Amino acid sequence: MKNQQNMSSSSSLPLTIFTLTLLSFTLGANAQACTEAFFKLAQQKNISDCKRLRTLGAEFAWNLHGNGSSNSTVVDILFGATLNAQQGWIGWGVNPGKRPEMVGTRAIVAVKRSDGTWGVDTYNITKYIRSGCNLLPSKIGIVLSKSVEQDVDNMHTMYVRLSLPSPEYNVTRLNHVWQVGYDIEGGHPHGHPKTLRNVDSTEVIDLTDSNGRGTGQYRSYLRTIHGVLNIIGWGTLLPIGIIIARYFRVFPFKCDPLWFNLHIGCQLTGFLVGTTGWAIGLSLGHSSRYYTFRDHRTYGILIFVFSTIQMLAFRLKPKLTDDYRKYWNMYHHFLGYGLLAIIIINIFKGIRILEGGDEWKWGYIGNLAFLGAIAFGLEVYTWIRFFILKQKQKQEQKQKQKQNQTEQSQEEKPSKPKMFA
Ligand code: HEM
Ligand SMILES: *[C@@H]1O[C@H](CO)[C@@H](O)[C@H](O)[C@H]1NC(C)=O
Ligand SMILES: *[C@@H]1O[C@H](CO)[C@@H](O)[C@H](O)[C@H]1NC(C)=O
Ligand SMILES: *[C@@H]1O[C@H](CO)[C@@H](O)[C@H](O)[C@H]1NC(C)=O
Ligand SMILES: *[C@@H]1O[C@H](CO)[C@@H](O)[C@H](O)[C@H]1NC(C)=O
Ligand SMILES: *[C@@H]1O[C@H](CO)[C@@H](O)[C@H](O)[C@H]1NC(C)=O
Repeated sequence: MKNQQNMSSSSSLPLTIFTLTLLSFTLGANAQACTEAFFKLAQQKNISDCKRLRTLGAEFAWNLHGNGSSNSTVVDILFGATLNAQQGWIGWGVNPGKRPEMVGTRAIVAVKRSDGTWGVDTYNITKYIRSGCNLLPSKIGIVLSKSVEQDVDNMHTMYVRLSLPSPEYNVTRLNHVWQVGYDIEGGHPHGHPKTLRNVDSTEVIDLTDSNGRGTGQYRSYLRTIHGVLNIIGWGTLLPIGIIIARYFRVFPFKCDPLWFNLHIGCQLTGFLVGTTGWAIGLSLGHSSRYYTFRDHRTYGILIFVFSTIQMLAFRLKPKLTDDYRKYWNMYHHFLGYGLLAIIIINIFKGIRILEGGDEWKWGYIGNLAFLGAIAFGLEVYTWIRFFILKQKQKQEQKQKQKQNQTEQSQEEKPSKPKMFA
């Protein structure tokens, strides 16, 4: 009894730590200051508002001339992004449409040619570009001046002066996007990778706010919720339920009705929380038409199917007295451990999709290590108990043998203590 209470109170600890870590970086993520080198360059341009963008290692500094109340607002932009390649391009643009997205964006792109020289041009990105048409430079009407600036740290930078007419552009909620690509053709950009950070590089920004508060990232919030729910549901509660079943059912601790209630409680809440996260994941995958993370998705579906089967087991399992209950148990345990393995793999796959989700990675590894340490301790304890019991049995047996030496031949083998029957 006592042990079990310890178990359930200590099991909430990794959850708490994990949630706090996530919360702190989710909340902190919105207003990250620029790197010193980039900020210095911005100051040379008389720009003092600066923020780090969410993806692609990009940074963004701006200076509004006027307050956006006249017919058109002049704004200076310094944009920087990392391009670790011989050739490629960095791009930034504004979208007069409803959403911050690539199609409809008026973009300024700086292209690094294979001989190391740079060119900068403006492009009107239409829906034909996404389906593979060549991107050619065109006038976009809003650019007063543009130039490629010096590199800072390992970031390439460009400086642009724009005149944004209202009401097409509203500087209090400006749709802007940024991008980095490695393909160029004839000195012009030609596609970019489609990984998460390349499609997550959009936001609605308020340029009149000196922190440049960003919105319009609800997909990225959904993704965070998806990750948290899955790690709590599949990645934490389910393993805790397995630990309870393994060590508190028969051996080394026997807490009869309690282990079962805790086990069911953990598995059921784990299943519900995990399934919610899974459903959010499915809808995220469904709404991104042009890219899928196939393995992650497949494993996710497997996890849901297997765990549904495991949950049904609670209702469909044979009675204790049935003969094939032993085989049923073996199958339930086998599927359970398999499920655990797939879950761990898939959580790491999900974290890898984030690229550089170090907080996630270490948060989850800490969580695993904590649960693993508990399981390891209990496992060692189990084996020690097992051998002590066996030793005792042997001694008892020897004594018996001494006592009844005449009946020796009929003696049965000692029965093992039941471990995980
Ligand atoms: C040069 C040719 C280009 C091609 C073939 C291309 C292709 C694509 C494709 C297929 C997507 C699909 C993702 C989706 O719709 O879900 C995409 C997304 C995106 N692209 Fe491009 N792109 C090009 C240039 C650019 C440029 C110059 C920029 C910005 C300066 C840019 C910014 C973005 C952004 C921000 C997204 C994610 C948001 C969205 O889907 O609207 N792309 N691109
Ligand atoms: C920055 O401001 C100073 C003083 O107002 C001015 O002399 C300088 O030309 C400005 N620099 C740029 C890049 O606008
Ligand atoms: C914006 O600036 C103009 C002049 O530059 C001024 O007349 C107007 O009152 C300002 N509006 C606000 C909301 O500050
Ligand atoms: C601003 O727009 C109004 C009407 O749309 C026009 O009468 C006025 O001349 C414009 N002002 C400037 C500075 O262009
Ligand atoms: C850019 O392309 C769109 C869609 O084809 C078009 O409506 C718009 O007028 C173009 N913008 C410029 C500045 O050429
Ligand atoms: C810009 O957006 C803000 C807030 O959404 C709104 O109050 C303001 O009137 C808009 N300005 C223009 C010029 O449309």
